[in-house]
Amino acid sequence: MPEYRWNQTDLAEEFDRAAEYIHPQYLAVQDAILDLLAEAGATRGLIVDAGGGSGRLAQRILEQCPASRLLVVDQSVAFLEIAARRMAPFGARGGVLTARLQEGWTSQLPEPPVAIVSMSAIHHLDPGEKRDCYARCFRALAPGGVLLNGDEVRDPIPAAYRQHMLNWSTWKNEQIAAGRLSEAMAENWRRWEERNIVHFDAPRKSGDDCHETIEAQLGYFREAGFTHVDAPWVRAMWAVLRGVKSGAEE
Ligand SMILES: C[S@@+](CC[C@H](N)C(=O)[O-])C[C@H]1O[C@@H](n2cnc3c(N)ncnc32)[C@H](O)[C@@H]1O
Repeated sequence: MPEYRWNQTDLAEEFDRAAEYIHPQYLAVQDAILDLLAEAGATRGLIVDAGGGSGRLAQRILEQCPASRLLVVDQSVAFLEIAARRMAPFGARGGVLTARLQEGWTSQLPEPPVAIVSMSAIHHLDPGEKRDCYARCFRALAPGGVLLNGDEVRDPIPAAYRQHMLNWSTWKNEQIAAGRLSEAMAENWRRWEERNIVHFDAPRKSGDDCHETIEAQLGYFREAGFTHVDAPWVRAMWAVLRGVKSGAEE
């Protein structure tokens, strides 16, 4: 079986270097998550970044929230090696955990987190795995804790969804033409286009881009037990999905 693409060191390093050229809303999604953490009052204590890759969002949270501690959970050793280097200057405030989000990673947390954030990762889980993952997050969170997933979503209108992906392709092909992405990442992108645009109607499996609508995913949040559930930030095919676990005092 070929190696899962996110476990290749060259792709991990290139994603870390060039994320803003790969993902047109990369910093905007991070900004939204940072604002929403502050709005939720979830800036003190343990915060988990699920599928946190090389730790870019974790680093920004550590810098902006001095009373936070961050744990980057990811299945990729290649990404986590970079994340560990990013966490090192923060000493005991930063850490990494190698785990698949489909598995029981929450039992390895040192305490219930005040927030679980995620970005561009959970869409790799198939619908059943997403459901289970959101339920696991709900159970792990401290009372009053918040789940914020800034991820790729599927427009409910197929033509609009396809157009969003075509727009992203055009944007990324411009970055490739301008020499802003390595050949390995350009090749990874060509495979993305093959899977998602050429074979638009083909069934998706775990590890693919299993895009689901905001409504479907907010439904999973409600099933998991989250009470305050919404999508406070949406732009093209990206959204931040929010679920708040009721606090003990409510
Ligand atoms: C596009 S990168 C995003 C990394 C990081 N969240 C960011 O925004 O910079 C996707 C990440 O999701 C991780 N990932 C994908 N499927 C996963 C799974 N089933 N369990 C844990 N991590 C997963 C990959 O290893 C990779 O680090």
